[in-house]
Amino acid sequence: MLAEVVTWLATPASLDARRTGHLTAAVSLWSRGFRCRRAWGPHEAHCHAVVDRAIGACERRRTAIVLGSGLVRDVPLDRLAAAFETVLLVDVVHLWPARWKARRHRNVRLVDLDITGSTDLILDRATGLSDPLARLAADPSVDLVISANCLSQLALLPLERLAAMNSSKRRRHADLGRRIVEGHLVALERFSGRVCLLTDSEGRDVDAEGRVLERRDLLEGVTLPPADEDWDWELAPIGEQAPDHAIVHRAHGFADWHGSVARGRRARSGGPAR
Ligand SMILES: C[S@@+](CC[C@H](N)C(=O)[O-])C[C@H]1O[C@@H](n2cnc3c(N)ncnc32)[C@H](O)[C@@H]1O
Repeated sequence: MLAEVVTWLATPASLDARRTGHLTAAVSLWSRGFRCRRAWGPHEAHCHAVVDRAIGACERRRTAIVLGSGLVRDVPLDRLAAAFETVLLVDVVHLWPARWKARRHRNVRLVDLDITGSTDLILDRATGLSDPLARLAADPSVDLVISANCLSQLALLPLERLAAMNSSKRRRHADLGRRIVEGHLVALERFSGRVCLLTDSEGRDVDAEGRVLERRDLLEGVTLPPADEDWDWELAPIGEQAPDHAIVHRAHGFADWHGSVARGRRARSGGPAR
């Protein structure tokens, strides 16, 4: 607990990131990630393998962007930095472990950005979402974008803040969660380079006998096309969040998001899936 307070105070973060709760969420993720490091190992290995496939398929290797870079555990930063001229780690907040990892490479830069464009809305300074990824998506030198297990997280804090707002705002933005999740997927489609998506989609409470007690959609009703790889991520072993059950998330890796979207569209329109 003391370590969390010290980290919160010592992290260079904007006032907005403190007020929206993003810094608090990042600190608690760091703390949980440390406690659950053994359980998260297989998930991180799956993520690295999917990212390695995406790197291997990039013909040009100028700029790589990691969205939701967090503590840079899901992506092989050393290999990215060796393969690309520039690597941008994009997150709403960068804790010190991520800053230290970035400093080991002269071509890795940190970008502080709320990629949902919801900060002004939830701090009551705007009436809608902005488009913070437009500038990066317009850059033709971006050869790889990795959305690194942030999709299911993006709507959480905006929805929490919205729940505390007055009823007319709550009604006006009743579909905010879905818009944020869909908005991220649409933003990924706008990048012309290769896009790799890592995300979870469903949470399950699982007891010691392996029985599923409850299931939760993590993507606000948005469905994904079939992934290249699916696996279970033991997010919280028994005892971490609850004494009687573990929390297991279904996770997915898309080494080529553009290709998966195109195949999904063809399948829906009755054409060959290829
Ligand atoms: C589950 S973590 C991802 C872990 C990370 N990829 C890693 O390797 O450690 C989700 C990340 O999404 C980030 N995030 C949540 N909302 C965001 C937003 N609006 N803009 C940018 N990043 C956001 C969080 O700060 C967090 O780092």
